[in-house]
Amino acid sequence: MLKSLLFLLSLIPLARLTWLSLHNGLGANPIEFITRSTGTWTLVFLLLTLSITPLRRLIGRNDLIRYRRMLGLFAFFYACLHFTTYIWLDQFFDWSAIVKDVIKRPFITVGFASFVLLIPLAATSTHAMQRLLRRRWQQLHRLVYLIAIGGVLHYWWLVKKDITQPALYALALTLLLGFRLAYRFISRAP
Ligand code: HEM
Repeated sequence: MLKSLLFLLSLIPLARLTWLSLHNGLGANPIEFITRSTGTWTLVFLLLTLSITPLRRLIGRNDLIRYRRMLGLFAFFYACLHFTTYIWLDQFFDWSAIVKDVIKRPFITVGFASFVLLIPLAATSTHAMQRLLRRRWQQLHRLVYLIAIGGVLHYWWLVKKDITQPALYALALTLLLGFRLAYRFISRAP
């Protein structure tokens, strides 16, 4: 029940974008609007995915783990929309321009790397893959930390003046990763 509700809530950003595009509500630069919105939601879902484990430990609700995979897959879903907007509406499938852009602009390089790293995580997100890969699954899925750091860096580097927003995401990520480190340290202490 709660899972279905969370699923529907996670679709709201997409529903909002669809509604706005059908009603001329995307402003003067619709492509920029869609890119920014899908990028923001990718980052938000990444951080939500990373907040499940600290929350489980803080409130002692182990069943929260049931929602982690879905949140992670929504991060991938919005990343796909974000990337598609870029290659389709922004670059018009001009592959040589895209390759040049990925090489030349550091914020695109790091965003692209984060997106590529998300693919194996999404592909191995099933329970069957988790059983098959065992320890290696955990090692592979630790890439999510790198992806989230890449996502924040991507945002930080693309902002020209006011860094308040990326700084807030960086703070949230630092707290989430810091909690994990502290927990590891404390639980290993004799
Ligand atoms: C995990 C991967 C990614 C995350 C978390 C992410 C996140 C974001 C965020 C938060 C923004 C800014 C939103 C705002 O201004 O409010 C953004 C903008 C943008 N992203 Fe990404 N992104 C990712 C991957 C990519 C990839 C693969 C590309 C293209 C190769 C890309 C291209 C862009 C562009 C062109 C912008 C708009 C820049 C501008 O407004 O000047 N991103 N992204």
